[in-house]
Amino acid sequence: MDTQKTQSFLPAPTGKFQVPEFPPSKSSVINQQLQFSLVIPTYKESKNVRNVVIRLTQILDEFIPGDYELIIVDDDSPDRTWEVALSLVEEYPQLQVMRRQHERGLSTAVIRGWQVARGNILGVIDGDLQHPPHVLKQLLSEIYQGADLAAASRHIEGGGVSSWSFIRRFLSRGAQLLGLLILPKVLGRVSDPMSGYFLVQRNCLASVTLDPVGYKILLEVIGRGKIDKIAEVGYVFCERYEGESKVTWKQYVDYIHHLIRLRISTGRIGRVSQRFPLSRFVRFGLVGLSGVFVDMVILYLLSDPTTLAWPLTRSKIIASEFAIFNNFLWNDAWTFADVSMQQQELHQRLKRFLKFNIICLAGLVLNVFFLNLIFNFLIPNRYIANLIAIAIATIWNFWVNLKLSWRVTQVK
Ligand code: GDD
Ligand code: MN
Repeated sequence: MDTQKTQSFLPAPTGKFQVPEFPPSKSSVINQQLQFSLVIPTYKESKNVRNVVIRLTQILDEFIPGDYELIIVDDDSPDRTWEVALSLVEEYPQLQVMRRQHERGLSTAVIRGWQVARGNILGVIDGDLQHPPHVLKQLLSEIYQGADLAAASRHIEGGGVSSWSFIRRFLSRGAQLLGLLILPKVLGRVSDPMSGYFLVQRNCLASVTLDPVGYKILLEVIGRGKIDKIAEVGYVFCERYEGESKVTWKQYVDYIHHLIRLRISTGRIGRVSQRFPLSRFVRFGLVGLSGVFVDMVILYLLSDPTTLAWPLTRSKIIASEFAIFNNFLWNDAWTFADVSMQQQELHQRLKRFLKFNIICLAGLVLNVFFLNLIFNFLIPNRYIANLIAIAIATIWNFWVNLKLSWRVTQVK
């Protein structure tokens, strides 16, 4: 096509994944610094790419006309997404296209795009319109107000997913839970660490060598970047218009690989020496003690030969549920009062109770597992073994509830 003769691809950087401190001066385009560069990683998006450029242009032309660029980074898609993208450049001069033929992967595509970007604010959005473009205005406003990183989140007020299957939701939340255990000080800083939709100040990444794997570019940025202030904006992850998700089991394996690599290479996990919330943990422990008391009383009332003499296991399950309910009420009103006060709606309390319940039941399984492990292989004293097992389960219950049930996102 004629237009293709005049238009050319952006050269794909090679070597280290380092975002330069200052936008590179480029002969191929007017050497003018911009406010905002938005990278759109694409793979087999030929049917979506035009709509994405149109929608993004509408939003950004109205919000920051002439002061932004769109950079599509395509990994040599077999459906020739790179060709469709390049054909748009004449109509949309703020668009540039990179066709990578020797590298593949969502995260590395984003960084290669940021390496050639001219903006002081760098962003990433999916190329399939599942990330609503209008949220960009709120994300940019958060950066203007001083946030180092502004992330779109499905898990805060205004957030959600359109119609994910239970499996996809379970896998996504499971991946987040695993990440909280391996890399608490990175994943614990945002409510949706799996998000692929966020903006970051260039100077937070300057002279940092990134080492991404797979899909989760946000982990890399929080784990290795100089990120102090994080803002979050709720968004609903939409249905795809065309094509399908490229997420396969490989992305989950990459994710675990990425977590371990980040954990090892960033030592005590990045710059944020977030203190362990000891006073909250002590309150949580005291509430737990009251739960033990409730558990014992109910167990006595239901199973003792002098009372109802019900079977032990049935009594124990009912007693545990009473104890969990007791603990939830106290934790919601005391331990995490500062957080629950901000989310007083009935559905929010119910959601917190459900999460608390599931996490504590998982804690009960952990408790029984460690009791048997310690009693049978380490300390043949059931009461000491039980105490240690309760301590492990309490730390699990506290940490996971802190991060998932009583979400304290470190927004400004
Ligand atoms: N360049 C490049 N190379 N782009 C890729 C590649 C790749 O190897 N794999 C996927 N992409 C592009 C897709 O074309 C799409 O624009 C975007 O990355 C997301 O890929 P999907 O396959 O649609 O992922 P998803 O919708 O299941 O999940 C997305 O949203 C989640 C929530 O924000 C991803 O961004 C996840 O990382 C994210 O957690
Ligand atoms: Mn998608």
